[in-house]
Amino acid sequence: MPDTATSADALRLAEYVDRMGHDHPPISLDSVDFTVHQPREFERRFGHVLDYMARVELEVDRNVLEITTMLPDPPEIDRHFYADVWQPQEIQHGLILDKLQVELGRSPAAPDTDSIGAKLRILGTMAHLPSFQDVCRMLYYLTGMATERSAVLAYNLLHKGTVEMGEEAVATTIIGQIKRQEPGHYAFYQLSARALWGELSGWQRWMVRLMRRISFAPVGANDAAQKADFGDVMATLGIADAASDFAEQISRVERELLWARHRGLRVPDYVTDALREAVDLAKARAHRPHLHR
Ligand SMILES: [Fe+2]
Ligand SMILES: [Fe+2]
Repeated sequence: MPDTATSADALRLAEYVDRMGHDHPPISLDSVDFTVHQPREFERRFGHVLDYMARVELEVDRNVLEITTMLPDPPEIDRHFYADVWQPQEIQHGLILDKLQVELGRSPAAPDTDSIGAKLRILGTMAHLPSFQDVCRMLYYLTGMATERSAVLAYNLLHKGTVEMGEEAVATTIIGQIKRQEPGHYAFYQLSARALWGELSGWQRWMVRLMRRISFAPVGANDAAQKADFGDVMATLGIADAASDFAEQISRVERELLWARHRGLRVPDYVTDALREAVDLAKARAHRPHLHR
């Protein structure tokens, strides 16, 4: 009885979002301690990582515009999640990380909060057809999964590095608090993606695979300079040396859903290629050569 299964999924998801909002209110600036014992060393090692993360988190406002363009008539649960839970959490992550980098003497991040690409506008126009909006929704969940899983892994590594440097205040009150909120975002997209994939028809699935293949990008990397910045972040956090593991973790459920018939495929090739491109662009730019020896 697909109807019962669908409504049970929907109920579970609604409860999940409510619990996330209740258990994880946005982090207040007052709860954060910006004490850094070795600001120069900390800035030298992690300053560019903080800048990247702050920018991506602050771009949540553009992401909301993108979502409302891509999904002109979203299910209420999606709207509730992105408007009431997700955006208020992410914007605080961005504001806190940005304040930390400014405390370290760096310039604030330069997020792009309002430009929407032409491709997305076209998608948005087509999404007025309900069957096409489901394709867009699936792409949104897949992007969300890869993005949030990347955030979980990156914050875990940043937290570890911050502890290693003895910067307890930053580790505990900043990175520690932020990293606890990311797994819930990932779980929301994963539950949504699994439920929706089961409802898509053959042509919709075909379209999702095609569009995913041509549009995948690492989190926050929208042009060559940002891809190179991401390559530097990968190097500092040790992801560049373990890129295939990272790729596997950010695309595990996507591979399971979209590419189940391709047995033996560990990672979709477009994910591996995009990460390799980021590292290659960072090396070629030689902006931080010590990272890419
Ligand atoms: Fe975040
Ligand atoms: Fe997140």
